[in-house]
Amino acid sequence: MLQRSLIPALLSGSLLGTSAFAANIPRSPAASLDPRAFVSGSWGLTQPGTTGVSAMQLAVTSESTAIILDKVEHNPLTVNGHIAWASELNFNTNQVRPLNPLSNTWCATGSFLGNGTLVSSGGNPIVITGWSYSKCQNGLQAIRLFTPCTDGRCDIFEDPARLHLTSNRWYPSSVRIDDGSVIIYGGSTFGGFENGASGNNPSYEFFPPKNINGFNGVKIPSPFLSNTLNANHFPILIMLPDGNIFVAANQKAMLFNWRTNTETPLPGIPNGVRVSSPYSAGAVLLPLTPENNYTPEVMICGGSTVSDTANPSSLSSQTPASAQCSRMVLTQAGIAAGWSVETMPQARVMPELILLPDGRILIINGAQTGVAGYGNVGDQVGSSNADNPAFSPVLYDPSAARGSRFSATGISSTIPRIYHSTASLTPNGSILVAGSNPNDDVQTRKYATEYRFEYFSPPYLFQPRPTYTGLPATVGYNAVFSLSVSLPAGATNVSVALIDLGFATHGVHMDHRFLIS
Ligand SMILES: *[C@@H]1O[C@H](CO)[C@@H](O)[C@H](O)[C@H]1NC(C)=O
Ligand SMILES: *[C@@H]1O[C@H](CO)[C@@H](O)[C@H](O)[C@H]1NC(C)=O
Ligand SMILES: *[C@@H]1O[C@H](CO)[C@@H](O)[C@H](O)[C@H]1NC(C)=O
Repeated sequence: MLQRSLIPALLSGSLLGTSAFAANIPRSPAASLDPRAFVSGSWGLTQPGTTGVSAMQLAVTSESTAIILDKVEHNPLTVNGHIAWASELNFNTNQVRPLNPLSNTWCATGSFLGNGTLVSSGGNPIVITGWSYSKCQNGLQAIRLFTPCTDGRCDIFEDPARLHLTSNRWYPSSVRIDDGSVIIYGGSTFGGFENGASGNNPSYEFFPPKNINGFNGVKIPSPFLSNTLNANHFPILIMLPDGNIFVAANQKAMLFNWRTNTETPLPGIPNGVRVSSPYSAGAVLLPLTPENNYTPEVMICGGSTVSDTANPSSLSSQTPASAQCSRMVLTQAGIAAGWSVETMPQARVMPELILLPDGRILIINGAQTGVAGYGNVGDQVGSSNADNPAFSPVLYDPSAARGSRFSATGISSTIPRIYHSTASLTPNGSILVAGSNPNDDVQTRKYATEYRFEYFSPPYLFQPRPTYTGLPATVGYNAVFSLSVSLPAGATNVSVALIDLGFATHGVHMDHRFLIS
């Protein structure tokens, strides 16, 4: 099987290995070679353009492109004479070209298959008024395929009559599994602030469909999704090295074995913190490295302790979010030891956790108060259920001593990145940030529909960097390949990080992972 989805990952990995290299390049002859001495210096921040559609969903698709998916709304970008709700951003030109899905991508999920094709699934009907386009389909059961290209000619493929989900899924998550296919998990059968028993879709399915455990291509029940109401929209899914999947939603977590359809409960999230939408936390599989013997450890940061049974109008945009980060090693001993809890410098709901090439985590985006969504809480700001955007990203070093893992980046944006915002590492190691739109249609009032995108540039980008040639277009599963690498003078003890840049939406970063080879 071709493992083309590794290509963007690999590019970032190698280039990001850049920062790993840079981390060990003495800044002056006296500088220490301690691998803990990360490149220091100022961060860069640029705001070079707009995305044409608001970036509710974002995924890097090649060395020079990213796909951006929005919902159907009155965007400035058009395609074939109607408004657009998807685009492709070119990193070299900072321009977008419109893409033309058939169905509404509103609150869909996305994962790359092992062969490099992106599967976007789920969505919603159209809700805006004053617009009609007879060909636009309800996206609740949509499956959309996008095979990336660099010639500007590829588009999203849909064939709703022949290619669709087994049931409605609004707010599902997805994860690529070890046979190269994708699991599409949960969601609700119609919209809503929270997930209730009447709308819950407590099931999962595979794409391409599988005949497995007696379920021949139909949806497979997941009791965990019935036990995590009312806050299990966009559950956290992380594929582990042994083939199991870590799942977290609301205040619970479990290990899921898709081969046997078995759920094994894990210790609940500490201190009553809820971690899935609308109390969204960020989550990540910490870097797998030779130093930790590739032992999986997950970390979940932020979220909220707000009630999930209260009338939403009694909730407030001013209620502090959670500042908790919880880590757990997913071995028998680690699970027995349970979660270990730390406190972020700043509370955040809807943060994104981005794996940087130097092995640290960037905690970016989100709000310090309120909850995800719009139009629900009693004291909305514009329509936003959240307020007090967290403008400055924070670094987390997972291998530093407890108590000294968080550090400031010293860089701050002025653009709120709250509900429906996204972030992704790019192939050169910068962080692309886009979107934010707590509104049902395009708005210019406070917490406007945001089209501006930004690149945050960590200090390692301003160091001498390695280059390489010979990257194959596709790599077979388990295949060996070689690159020719030129290192800057003075580079020693080089390590290379392979990073899957994943698919970002709602603070959940599907398939994002980091491995030191
Ligand atoms: C090389 O780097 C690794 C990881 O950062 C570290 O564990 C190791 O001690 C270093 N080796 C040398 C020779 O500096
Ligand atoms: C990194 O890539 C982004 C997007 O292509 C670009 O805007 C930025 O200038 C690059 N930064 C460096 C230091 O190469
Ligand atoms: C990957 O597999 C899917 C599902 O079988 C297929 O639709 C798609 O065309 C394949 N992509 C490539 C690049 O072969």
